[in-house]
Amino acid sequence: MQCTRRGWNVGVKNTNTGHSPQEFAKRRRRVLREIGRDSLLCVRAAPRRIYAGDVDYPYRQSSDFAYLTGLDEDAMVAVLAPGCEHGDYILFCTPNDDTRTLWEGRRVGMRAAVREHGADLALPLADFAEWLPRLLAGRRRLYCDLQDAAHRDELAAACAGALAAARGAAAPRELADLSLVLHEMRLKKSPSELRLMRRAADISVDAHRRAWRACRPGVNEREIAAELLHEFHRHGAAAAYPPIVGGGANACVLHYTDNNAALKDGDLLLIDAGAEVCLYAGDVTRTVPVNGRFRPAQRELYEIVLQAQKKAIAAVVPGHTWKDVHAAAVAALTRGLVAAGLLRGRVPSLIRKRAYTRFYMHGTGHWLGMNVHDAGDYAKDGRPRRFEPGMVLTVEPGLYVRRARDVARRWWNTGIRIEDDVLVTPRAPRVLSAALPKEAADIEAAMAQ
Ligand code: GLY
Ligand code: MN
Ligand code: MN
Repeated sequence: MQCTRRGWNVGVKNTNTGHSPQEFAKRRRRVLREIGRDSLLCVRAAPRRIYAGDVDYPYRQSSDFAYLTGLDEDAMVAVLAPGCEHGDYILFCTPNDDTRTLWEGRRVGMRAAVREHGADLALPLADFAEWLPRLLAGRRRLYCDLQDAAHRDELAAACAGALAAARGAAAPRELADLSLVLHEMRLKKSPSELRLMRRAADISVDAHRRAWRACRPGVNEREIAAELLHEFHRHGAAAAYPPIVGGGANACVLHYTDNNAALKDGDLLLIDAGAEVCLYAGDVTRTVPVNGRFRPAQRELYEIVLQAQKKAIAAVVPGHTWKDVHAAAVAALTRGLVAAGLLRGRVPSLIRKRAYTRFYMHGTGHWLGMNVHDAGDYAKDGRPRRFEPGMVLTVEPGLYVRRARDVARRWWNTGIRIEDDVLVTPRAPRVLSAALPKEAADIEAAMAQ
């Protein structure tokens, strides 16, 4: 998630990784084992991005870099080099100097990289290009982030140079995407990761409750967004993504983040907001009545989405796939739309024709982890991937009814989404965000407090 919109996060530095050093060492050992001695893996820290003039956006570390290193600092490259004579884990760092320390505070630096962060060898980042040919010699494959164009091009040029100099000896002919190894690992969460994800869900729940307390006609969406951010930051968390706070018609804009309209009596308010704890995201949506009471038509559609969400969550069990989850949601939504008179026809044929996409036009969820739309392929070996215990995902069906001539006025501008964070377990799905009410009556009761 890049910071492309101002005002949704203040700088909250994750100085605490949330994990023990052993957790990172274990991850690195597994990567070293999986890539093998004929490969090298390089990943760089996310660069800073300029907001304006001399001001940066709040810094957000690359999830892959953080996953392997636990470090929250720019201008570093981590190298995993199985069997290297200098050690398997080499960190290229920015050394501390007095002027930089004066303006920005201390950096990790080379000494702590080895003593506190597990590197076998730490070197100045300025020496990376000089060291690269040496590290590449004898390797056949270089894993890196192929999406990180600047870093990838630098590495590709070094590989070409190493190949030219190899004269028959091994040198990398190909760059491989580190997602093949790292994202497979990130898909299944360790106990330590799950602890952080539970915390992110808990803080997200608190933030929604706080937002509800501030919700009434006349309040601006941005005031609600500020309540959410206040609760995140109060707990030392950040926002995992710019909160979506949309009243009335704005709830029907799927990625609405303007958050600048006054809330109106009789409208619904859709809040999609999640905390980020030590770089692990929560992603939670609730839809509530601005004045505290659902109108009958709103409640009718709300119940349809709620039933669809419950059916979809029930499908999150080992062996099932995203297709099962989406199909459960689509079947319940289509049945409900027919019952409400918003679709006409037979349910199986409406599903076949995808008639529901007029009112439900997005997927039913995504992986959740260090990225809100987390890493990990949705297919494996050409087939939809089967759920396994330890995977975390969102389940988030919705209905979005905009103003239209062929739609009865009572439904206009009704946008509803209900989103929870769900852990796959060997048995029943565990809803991490279950503490946030979603029954219509419970929401009304909570808003009346
Ligand atoms: N908050 C973004 C999403 O629900 O996917
Ligand atoms: Mn989501
Ligand atoms: Mn969401």
